[in-house]
Amino acid sequence: MKRAKIALIGGGQIGGVLAQLCAQRELGDVVMFDIVEGLPQGKMLDLAEVARMDQFDVELKGTNSYADIAGANIVIITAGLPRKPGMSRDDLLGINAKIMKQVAEGIKEHAPEAFVIVISNPLDAMVTLCQKVTGFPPERVFGQAGVLDSSRFCAFIAWELGVSVRDVNAMVLGGHGDTMVPIVRYANVNGIPVMEQLERKYGDKAKAKEVMDAMVQRTKMAGGEVVKLLGNGSAFYSPASSAIAMAEAVLRDQKRVLPVCALLRGEFGVDNYYVGVPCVLGDGGVERIVEFELDAEEQAMFDNSVNAVKKLIDELPTILPEMADILKS
Ligand code: APR
Repeated sequence: MKRAKIALIGGGQIGGVLAQLCAQRELGDVVMFDIVEGLPQGKMLDLAEVARMDQFDVELKGTNSYADIAGANIVIITAGLPRKPGMSRDDLLGINAKIMKQVAEGIKEHAPEAFVIVISNPLDAMVTLCQKVTGFPPERVFGQAGVLDSSRFCAFIAWELGVSVRDVNAMVLGGHGDTMVPIVRYANVNGIPVMEQLERKYGDKAKAKEVMDAMVQRTKMAGGEVVKLLGNGSAFYSPASSAIAMAEAVLRDQKRVLPVCALLRGEFGVDNYYVGVPCVLGDGGVERIVEFELDAEEQAMFDNSVNAVKKLIDELPTILPEMADILKS
């Protein structure tokens, strides 16, 4: 059977890890596109020369031509600038919107049947722009953010409780910014509520809440924590692994329920905005948004997060005046 084809747009830090994971898991042949000449070719050659050790049989190609992404089943976009210490993701809007427009035009022309997973920041605005430019159905264009934010939240809970992170389930919804919404109420260790475990550990409800609040806050700022430590660039292992989980769910039709930046059409009280919600991911892309009842406090935080996304979307026509009509549709 013919192997799947995965196109990576952006051959930087995240792009490199994406390629390695695609190869090691034999998800399909990989084409890495970048505007920098030699960079994607060099990375793919280096990776191809590892096949003997890592035992994979996939084709790897680096390119500076969009024509080479033709026939891609999935495109994963990391093109764009990462943040520098002190910057928020939103500060990247002006520069990355221009890059995303170019990238989306290239995908529209050369891989019109592909599913598209966006990683570039500010994520919710970049996914919106990508869908508007490509005109692809929204179930084929979605963003990676919640899988990573949730994974970070799970890691902090596991470290706090001294349990394997594999047994921790916790979800982060909303926009991929400082207003993201970790859902504390349903955080659990193999079904056992995390809050109850914290209360037992500290013997005190107030202290348990304080510890949870600190983990929530750390989750919201986790990307910035890495940026500050690195000094140059932003997280790359974790966004890459998270996007690969999503790509794999689509390629292997896994029907996984993952938090995905998806277009809402009335769900969670939001109409026509991309934001992070639980979705069923399978070979139809975003096959279903899994709605559930938020309590009043969660809904207020979710609405606040959506408003932050709306603000960025409202800025797009100023950055890309030639697209004003499409952006308002
Ligand atoms: N088309 C294609 N690639 C581009 C373009 C473009 N127009 N402009 C820049 N790039 C490439 C750069 O040449 C670089 O190789 O995008 C790559 C980005 O790689 P890094 O700078 O290493 O950034 P990375 O850490 O991979 O993050 C990429 O993902 O998580 C987000 O905030 C992060 O927006 C950033 C993106």
